This record gives sequence, structure tokens and C-alpha cells, in this order.
Amino acid sequence: MYVKNLELKNFRNYESLNINFDPRINLITGRNAQGKTNLIEAVCLISMGRSFRAGRDSEMIRFGENEALVHAEVVKSYMDTRVDICINRKSRKSIKKDGKQLHKTSELLNNVFIVAFTPEDLRIVKDEPEKRRRFLDKELAQIKPAYYLSLGRYKKVLQQRNSCLKGDSFSPAMLSLWDEQLVQYGAELMRMRKEFIDQLSIFSGKIHGSITNGQEELKIEYEANVPYEEDVVRQKESLRSALQHSLETDRKMRTTTKGPHKDDLRFLVNGINARKYGSQGQQRTCALSLKLAELDFIKQETGESAILLLDDVMSELDQSRRAFLIDSLEENQIFITMTEADDDLIQAYGNPTVFTVHGGRVDSV
Ligand SMILES: Nc1ncnc2c1ncn2[C@@H]1O[C@H](COP(=O)(O)OP(=O)(O)O)[C@@H](O)[C@H]1O
Ligand SMILES: [Mg+2]
Repeated sequence: MYVKNLELKNFRNYESLNINFDPRINLITGRNAQGKTNLIEAVCLISMGRSFRAGRDSEMIRFGENEALVHAEVVKSYMDTRVDICINRKSRKSIKKDGKQLHKTSELLNNVFIVAFTPEDLRIVKDEPEKRRRFLDKELAQIKPAYYLSLGRYKKVLQQRNSCLKGDSFSPAMLSLWDEQLVQYGAELMRMRKEFIDQLSIFSGKIHGSITNGQEELKIEYEANVPYEEDVVRQKESLRSALQHSLETDRKMRTTTKGPHKDDLRFLVNGINARKYGSQGQQRTCALSLKLAELDFIKQETGESAILLLDDVMSELDQSRRAFLIDSLEENQIFITMTEADDDLIQAYGNPTVFTVHGGRVDSV
């Protein structure tokens, strides 16, 4: 799939923009603070219905304006799609898919598939577990509505259980009610995470092997906070007993200390934990392999080639990793931002479309 056309009105520093993109390679160049990432953010918005960086939607409205509009036309292998998003300072965000008004942001998911890769993602291996959980949640929610649903329910029940633990009038009956729901949704999350991670491990293992010329073998493992069980009944038992065993601690800490909200991912390079012992280079290669594995996963699950957004990462990658990125992706639409037009890259890609961004205006070269 690819974004064919993007129209912006009062979005970030873009007053008005109407741009046609290359189905393959789009190089977006320009000095700092000119609007390169803003453009990538808009593409992300039409996929997820929210920004990958704004805390509040209203931050995306151009200073001094009341409303931002984003319109995109996306060509897909089965049926093309149009997305219209309107963010207003005073009213709720409006999202239309193919002209039809959506009631929830989540209804937009599973339509336009993107994989965004930023310098922050390069640190995913060594960052805190929360970042890796966010990765799991974001990527799974993007393609599996069932995951998004279970995650939302799990979080809600977790919140209720936690406020029950915090409350002065602690009620064991109430708690066991929350526990049973947490066990149900938690088991669902764990099963979907395990399946996803197993697939990612296979895909990223192949990619990692190619990038390192077979020198390194990457495995990604699910580091479940509560023992993982293949069988759903046993999984629920394992969750239930973890909650029961930690009840005393939970009451003392006034929060739920066990469960999938504490899950993690483990990266093993040649059997060694890359988070603890890997070099920075190895950790970066793991991150790249992981991101590219997502493309394979999306293709497998949906039949679509996802759009790859590379914001400021090309310059962070060394020659061999860059070469891999250039040579291995033959059908995905790719957006690459960088401060200077890189002649090597232009040459390597044949004839990419080069855009220059200057103060919220875009020229194609
Ligand atoms: N809501 C907004 N309204 C107007 N300008 C904005 C808004 N948000 C950010 N900007 C401007 O956008 C620019 C940063 O754009 P960005 O895409 O992050 O730059 P870069 O080209 O370095 O990636 C800054 O000049 C910033 O002031
Ligand atoms: Mg930027």
C-alpha cells in the first residue's frame, strides 16, 4: 500500500499543503525545524488516528488557528482508502474513513499500516521494559482489533483493582471480582503477545542473520511476568495464583505487582542477552531487525506491504545496515527524512522522489 496524496490545512507549521508521493521512495530533506517530522507525523496520524509524539491532539493545530485538517488517499492492493481527520480546539476530533464518520479512534486501526522507525526506536533493546511493552501494544493494536479490545479492558480492570487496593475500605469480595476479569483479559493478552513474539523472532532472526552475514543469530523471547502456559485454562490458573500469591505485597504497595502489565521482551544474540551484554552496534542491529520483521508480520497477517517511516535514522546507521535497508525492501513505500540530500542514498535508490521542506512548504526537486 502507499499514500498517494496528502492534504494538510493548519497542521503544525503547514498552513496549506497538497502533495503527491512516490509509491516507493520519498526522501524528505530540509534543515532542522522546517517540518520534516511534522510530515511524517501526519502520515502516522492517518494510520493510528493519533500522533506518535503529541501529548494532546490540539498540539497538532497550527499556532493561532482553531482547526487542523488532514486528508489522505491511500492505494491498497484490494481496496483504496480515504481518511479525513479534523482536529478542533473546541470540539471532539472527527475521523472519517472513506467518507464515513467513525465513532471511535480505534475504528480507524487496521486500515493503513505503517511502521515508524525513529532514533528512539534504536534504543528499544536497552531502554526500560515499558518501552518494549508499548511497542508490543502499539504494533498488535494496529493490526489486531481483538488485541486492542482486550488491552483496553485489561487496563480498565487493572485501574479498578488498583483503586480497590488503595481504598480505605478494602473489600476482598470486590477484589476477587476484579481478579477474575483481570485473569480473563490478561490471558487473552498473553496469548496474542506470545504468538506475535514467536513470529517476530522467526522473521527478525532471518533479517538479523542477513545483516550480520550469518555471524549473529537473533532470537526474541517473551519474558512473561507470570509464567506463560499454552493451554488457556492453565494460563488462567497461573495468572490467578500469581495474583493470590502477591496479594499481601499488592496491599502493602497499593498496586498490582504481577501480571502482563509487567511483561518484557528478551533479545538473545548468539544466546546472550543483548540488553545486558550486547554492544551498542548489536543492540541497534536488533532494533533494525525487529522493525523490519514487523513489515513481514504485517504482510503475513494482512497481505499488505506496510509503509515505512524512517525519521532521522538513516544517518544513524552505518553503511552495512543502510545497504540492507536499501536492498531488502522492494515493494514498501518508504519515507526517509534527513537534513541534507544524501547523494549516496539517491544513487543507491535509483530515482527516489526528493522533497525539500522549508518553513512548512514543500518543493519537489
Ligand atoms: N502546532 C504548531 N503550529 C505551528 N508550528 C509548529 C507547531 N508545532 C510545531 N511547529 C513548528 O514545527 C517546527 C518543527 O518541525 P519538525 O517537523 O519537528 O522539524 P524537522 O524538520 O526538524 O523534523 C518548529 O519550527 C516548530 O515551531
Ligand atoms: Mg525531525
